[in-house]
Amino acid sequence: MGKKVVITGVPGVGKTTVINQAISELSAEGVEYQDINFGSCMFEVASGQGLVKDRDEMRKLEQAKQRELQRNAAQFIAKTEGNVIIDTHCTVKTPKGYLAGLPEWVLKELMPDTFILVETDEDQILMRRMSDETRVRDAEGYRALCEHQQFNRAMAASYAMLTGCTVKIVVNADNLLDKSVEELKEILR
Ligand code: AP5
Repeated sequence: MGKKVVITGVPGVGKTTVINQAISELSAEGVEYQDINFGSCMFEVASGQGLVKDRDEMRKLEQAKQRELQRNAAQFIAKTEGNVIIDTHCTVKTPKGYLAGLPEWVLKELMPDTFILVETDEDQILMRRMSDETRVRDAEGYRALCEHQQFNRAMAASYAMLTGCTVKIVVNADNLLDKSVEELKEILR
């Protein structure tokens, strides 16, 4: 049985950047992880059904549909063998409020060993979102981002209570990507 590590962070915090570099450096050491993007699993089904044209539209879908897409993705990911990183969200900001990224039925399919929150200062996240022209990021202010990061910590604690997983916070500060990659590699080894 491999390790299952869930990695989350608010959009634009740079979690995918940290994951990609850590996986490639670990692979050079002979430690292999498969990286599965939860949003991509959901998007494959949602776009196949003609519900969305891009991944940023998914968080605006009706709640029941998002839940169904979550369940499908979790069932698919649960079948994956070996060491797995699941790149996803602790909570998703929808027009009707925060949606748990890993509600009970998703958690019970995945049963992660470790849950990681990638965080950094809110002003850095705002700048990263503004300079990313490839995505349709939510335009949010400093306070909204603080609330989202705080809410994510509270949800991570509840995920730990439900599964017995550990929770680790990795800071991905501006121009200190190598430091966050080192921290993540330590956890994944
Ligand atoms: P997802 O695919 O995860 O998209 P996302 O949230 O936008 O995450 P990204 O991977 O695009 O951003 P990131 O934060 O990893 O930042 P990046 O590395 O690109 O999710 C898509 C959708 O799927 C969600 O909106 C949701 O609808 C759905 N979904 C997913 N999981 C779900 C779930 N469990 N339940 C329900 N729905 C779910 O980096 C951003 C920028 O920062 C880059 O320009 C990068 O160069 C820069 N950067 C990174 N690190 C640094 C650094 N240290 N210093 C300076 N710049 C940096």
